[in-house]
Amino acid sequence: MENEVRKKRILSGIQPSGDLTLGSYLGAIKNWAALADEYDCYYMLADMHTITVRQVPADLRRRTLTQVAAYIACGLDPEKNTLFVQSHVPAHAQLGWVLDCYTMFGELSRMTQFKDKSAKNADNINAGLFTYPSLMAADILLYQADLVPVGGDQKQHVEICRDIANRFNGIYGEVFKIPEPYIPPVGARVMSLTSPENKMSKSDKDQNGCVYMLEKPEDIMRKFKKAVTDSDACVRYDPAAKPGVSNLMQIYAVATGKTFQEIEQEFDGRGYGDFKTAVGESVVELLRPIREETERLLADKSYLESVYRAGAEKASRVAGRTLDKVYKKVGFLAR
Ligand code: TRP
Repeated sequence: MENEVRKKRILSGIQPSGDLTLGSYLGAIKNWAALADEYDCYYMLADMHTITVRQVPADLRRRTLTQVAAYIACGLDPEKNTLFVQSHVPAHAQLGWVLDCYTMFGELSRMTQFKDKSAKNADNINAGLFTYPSLMAADILLYQADLVPVGGDQKQHVEICRDIANRFNGIYGEVFKIPEPYIPPVGARVMSLTSPENKMSKSDKDQNGCVYMLEKPEDIMRKFKKAVTDSDACVRYDPAAKPGVSNLMQIYAVATGKTFQEIEQEFDGRGYGDFKTAVGESVVELLRPIREETERLLADKSYLESVYRAGAEKASRVAGRTLDKVYKKVGFLAR
């Protein structure tokens, strides 16, 4: 409608670099689903970023499709959200190149994620790993996104995106909207079950620290029963002194809607065994409908295809407008 105020736009993405985890759900996708009415939302599968680390092609393809199904199963209604695969929208690579030419070697060298990943992949420090931030800036700026929901580890990437956009706008006028990082009001930072000082990560080598969204109930239960706690046998929320127990409480709180105080009372005088079993069971029940719906969707490939095709078409239209403007500004001859 013409006189309707334009909704603020949101863009975010997750790399299909590993199977989605309980952390991806509670920390990101669950919150995204709640934004659809208020915002114009674009959610991407960042497969182009994923190949900055070597992948097994068939696995990447399977994980990408599974992730589309999981997005929908987690409540991202494709009628209300634009769901698309990054490599399906060529404008990302096109703007990414242009932005490479407006991003400085020095600023890329200072990125924490680049330093971490180079240390972890010392035999494959490729140029894509280095210019990862300018491609991510393109992801965001193509859609003129107002807000970018990200976890703390990605904030530096939104910062550099703003720097690049400001630099470009400073030369050519107001081409890009300057985005803000968006930390949803309710969110959970889920930590590893075996090393609770680290975030639960889908690329973690320690499989026991990480609960996958589509994992079988018995495997989920086994991991929670093995979760690291401490030696004082008391269920109390204190992230600094009791990181393992506090992480389990956090998970239990979001899975059941109970407050920390209610949880402390519930397990007063009971051992960690009971507590871990209860947390495991709550997670099994939380994930059950998501797993079943994902499996149902994966059996309907033509539906999934229609979702990501429509998503790419819509995304391409929006992205194309920004790319045209940029090409003109930098002086490319019109086709
Ligand atoms: N770098 C993000 C991550 O690893 C994924 C990502 C790629 C992203 N492009 C994005 C997130 C654009 C937000 C916006 O988590």
